Amino acid sequence: MLQFSVLLFLAVSVPSTGKRQTCLEGAGHKPTPTQENDLQECTLYAKSACCFANITEELAHSPVIKINTTFWNRCGNLTKMCETYMKKIECFYRCSPYAAHWADHQYAAAISSVPICQRFCDNWYESCKNDLTCVSNWLTDWEIDDKRENHCKNECIPYSEMYANGREMCETMWGDSLEVSDSSCLCLEMDEMDPKAIKLIQDRSSSSSSSSSSSSSNNEEEQFCRLRMKKIRELEEENKEGMEK
Ligand SMILES: *[C@@H]1O[C@H](CO)[C@@H](O)[C@H](O)[C@H]1NC(C)=O
Ligand SMILES: *[C@@H]1O[C@H](CO)[C@@H](O)[C@H](O)[C@H]1NC(C)=O
Ligand SMILES: *[C@@H]1O[C@H](CO)[C@@H](O)[C@H](O)[C@H]1NC(C)=O
Repeated sequence: MLQFSVLLFLAVSVPSTGKRQTCLEGAGHKPTPTQENDLQECTLYAKSACCFANITEELAHSPVIKINTTFWNRCGNLTKMCETYMKKIECFYRCSPYAAHWADHQYAAAISSVPICQRFCDNWYESCKNDLTCVSNWLTDWEIDDKRENHCKNECIPYSEMYANGREMCETMWGDSLEVSDSSCLCLEMDEMDPKAIKLIQDRSSSSSSSSSSSSSNNEEEQFCRLRMKKIRELEEENKEGMEK
């Protein structure tokens, strides 16, 4: 009986402690994610956020002028469309409870090789192509002054001249933080389907390392991919109708 209750205890406690989520280090991150009811932006992460609400105040005003000490408008205000994508990445880095899965091995406050969807990068590029920027890598290419504020070293040019396409933009703008995924559905799109995609990505990497390919997880993957594609088509239809009106 004792053994039984010990097993039961293990079975119950492992999912909560063994998989307890942590946050990235530095940059105002909490130790572990908690609910945030007062987020003004990044509300996708309200249920479980690694950021405090105050970091989202600067993101909530459009056009965004600066985040902490980094000015976003060194080449003039970004368009709302372009800004939307920049915010999604900033929100992921600041607030997502999943960001720490891709914590950089050398610098724990940074993320590396987050598998982003090609489609997301293409839409982002399309939205920003006429906006201006003076840096290719937003993490390293600025001149930083004594107040830690960023300044252009080079002239402002359109995104479409700075980057050849969405993939190049995604894989350059934030250093190696993002990496375009080979998969069109097991990748991040900074939307409400990401948690499921992340779970499947993790299942896949743990099952491939133990080399037991499970047909039930393949099945789950297929179902998820079909659902995600359907949602995307619906969104595209909605956008098209919105444009025509
Ligand atoms: C704000 O910038 C300062 C100086 O660069 C940095 O030390 C601090 O961690 C930043 N805070 C957040 C919340 O990113
Ligand atoms: C944001 O709020 C947290 C928690 O209240 C606090 O520790 C932090 O210093 C605040 N950051 C800024 C930049 O006000
Ligand atoms: C950028 O936006 C700010 C805030 O709305 C506004 O005051 C400023 O005039 C804008 N700058 C340009 C160059 O349009």
